[in-house]
Amino acid sequence: MFLKDQVALVTGAGQGIGRAAATALAQAGASVAVVDIDAALAESVATSLAAHQHRALAIAADVGDVASIERMVAGTIAEFGRIDILLNNAGVTRRADIMELTEADWDRIHRVNAKGVFFCLQSVARTMIPRRSGRIINIASIAGKGYAGASNAAYAASKGAVISLTKTAAQQLAWANINVNAICPGVTRTALSEANLRVSAQQQGLSVAAMEKRRAETIPLRRANDPEDVAAMVVFLASPGARNITGQSLNVDGGLILD
Ligand SMILES: NC(=O)c1ccc[n+]([C@@H]2O[C@H](COP(=O)([O-])OP(=O)(O)OC[C@H]3O[C@@H](n4cnc5c(N)ncnc54)[C@H](O)[C@@H]3O)[C@@H](O)[C@H]2O)c1
Repeated sequence: MFLKDQVALVTGAGQGIGRAAATALAQAGASVAVVDIDAALAESVATSLAAHQHRALAIAADVGDVASIERMVAGTIAEFGRIDILLNNAGVTRRADIMELTEADWDRIHRVNAKGVFFCLQSVARTMIPRRSGRIINIASIAGKGYAGASNAAYAASKGAVISLTKTAAQQLAWANINVNAICPGVTRTALSEANLRVSAQQQGLSVAAMEKRRAETIPLRRANDPEDVAAMVVFLASPGARNITGQSLNVDGGLILD
């Protein structure tokens, strides 16, 4: 229970990677603010954590809106007193070729994936600086490092933004003993990747099962991530053993990308 007495805030925690990470952080002893734009999803995750004797609070918030972020941070501090760990996980995409992308796609993706990560980081760091302590973990993607299977170019650019701002935030917050790192998941079995898989299968005239098999064959370790594979890296980056790691973007991808 090395995160006992720690408080974690996880965005996009209603399902997928965020849900697995909220659960793993709670199992390591943290109290968790379970944030999602979908209030019912946030509530159901918080209820299931509470059923296992974990301290959890559901918060409905839109990370693309700064006023909503400020309410989310204030609500967490009102309940738990502080935030020790921020997991910036909420993200959106859709599978599309570069020439199909619209202005609405760009704005929707960058509003959540880039703007959302930045303003959650800034708003939470404001509360961490006076305490001279904090861990911030941003979920980027191997799409931000040139992975050819990226769902689309606007998404890849938004994840490149996360990798970049992770480096600058790490440099500018280190004096306050705040570590900022990113995780770059590869293919991870969640609702988001299943939607991409269905579009790819349709485009290539394959069944979803055949497309999934083909996808796994491109991965050196021959398996896609389960959300728990990413959650394990989140817990490590939040742990005492990671105290001297900052500014990094660590891949969890079965060997798809080697940088
Ligand atoms: N699944 C993958 O293969 C994969 C690969 C690389 C990176 N990622 C990244 O991992 C993160 C989580 O992805 P996932 O696959 O678990 O996705 P998911 O779609 O299963 O879950 C994302 C959650 O974020 C919530 N959300 C969306 N917009 C929000 C907003 N504006 N404010 C608050 N919450 C919001 C959704 O309601 C949902 O519950 C994302 O940043 C994604 O880009 C996923």
